[in-house]
Amino acid sequence: MTIRFDNKVAIVTGAGNGLGRAHALELAARGAKVVVNDLGGARDGSGQSSQASEEVVALIKANGGDAISHGANVANFDEVQDMVDTAVSRWGKVDILVNNAGILRDKSFSKMSLEDFKLVMDVHLMGSVNCTKAVWDLMREQNYGRIVMTTSSSGMYGNFGQSNYGAAKMALVGLMNTLVLEGAKHNIKVNALAPTAGTRMTEDLMPEQMVKILAPEAVTAGLITLCDEDAPNRTILCAGAGGYATANMFETEGIFLPIAEQTPEAVREQWAQLTNQEQQCALEAGVKQSEKFVMKAMAAL
Ligand SMILES: NC(=O)c1ccc[n+]([C@@H]2O[C@H](COP(=O)([O-])OP(=O)(O)OC[C@H]3O[C@@H](n4cnc5c(N)ncnc54)[C@H](O)[C@@H]3O)[C@@H](O)[C@H]2O)c1
Repeated sequence: MTIRFDNKVAIVTGAGNGLGRAHALELAARGAKVVVNDLGGARDGSGQSSQASEEVVALIKANGGDAISHGANVANFDEVQDMVDTAVSRWGKVDILVNNAGILRDKSFSKMSLEDFKLVMDVHLMGSVNCTKAVWDLMREQNYGRIVMTTSSSGMYGNFGQSNYGAAKMALVGLMNTLVLEGAKHNIKVNALAPTAGTRMTEDLMPEQMVKILAPEAVTAGLITLCDEDAPNRTILCAGAGGYATANMFETEGIFLPIAEQTPEAVREQWAQLTNQEQQCALEAGVKQSEKFVMKAMAAL
C-alpha cells in the first residue's frame, strides 16, 4: 500500500540541503504539510541564510504541495518554539518531526577545541532535544507522534576525527531509547536513521562516483517508513546507496561469580564465557540488566 501523509504536518530540520531537503520533498509529495527548517549556514555551522529553505518550499509548492520555511537555529530553544508555534497556528498540529540538521567540526581529539566539541553537541544533540521538547506535549495530547533522530555510523562504530560528532550522534540513540518508553502510551514512536549519502557534508570525503551512487533519495525511502503510522519503534535504520539494514545493541548472557570469587582475576579468567555471544539478547529497558544479574545471584543462593 502506498504510504501517504495526507492531513499530516511534518517538521524537517536542516531541510535546505542534502538529506533533509530530500526528506521534505518526499514527505510533501506524499501529502504532508511541511515546515522546511534551515539555518542556512556553512557545513561547519558558520553563517546564516534563508535561501536554501525557501527554494525547497518553492519546489514543493510548484509540485502542488504545501510548505513553509523557518530559519530557526535548532540549538536555540526559543527559535525552535517559535517554529513549532508557527506550524501549529497555521496547521493546528505537528505529527512528524525529523531531526536532521547537523554540522561537522572534524579534528583528532588531541587537536579539537572544547568549543568545537560543544558546538557539535549543541547542534546535533541539543538541537534534537529542543525540537523534540517543543513538540512532545503536543504529541502526547493528540495521542500521535512520529519522531526520527538522525544518528550515524560514526557514533555507533567510531570514525577518526569525529569524537564530537560521534558522541553527539550516539547520544541520540540514548535519547530515543528513553523517549520510546515514555511515549509508548501516547502513540508516539521514536526511531533513528543512520544514513550514508553524498551531500555537501561528505562530498569531499569520497570519490565523485561514490557520491553519485549515494543519492540522498535512497536514504529518504527508508526515512519515510519511520514517519508512517505503521512505523516501527526504537529501530535504528541504516540506509545508503539502496542498501537498508538495522543496527542493534545486544547484551551477552554473561556469568555469575559468587562473592568470594568477585575479583578482577576471576572476571578476567571468565572473559571468554562472559563475552560469549551465543545467547545475547536486546534488553527493552535498563532495569532488565539489573533484573538479569539479580536473578543469577538469587538462583545461586
Ligand atoms: N551525509 C551522510 O553520509 C551522513 C551520514 C551520517 C549522518 N548524517 C546526518 O544526516 C543529517 C543531514 O546531513 P547532510 O549530509 O544532508 O548534510 P548537509 O550539510 O547537506 O545538510 C545539513 C543541513 O542542516 C542545516 N543546519 C546546520 N545547522 C543547523 C542548525 N543549527 N539549525 C538548523 N539547521 C541547521 C544546514 O544548513 C544544512 O542545510 C545530519 O544530521 C548528518 O549528521 C549524514
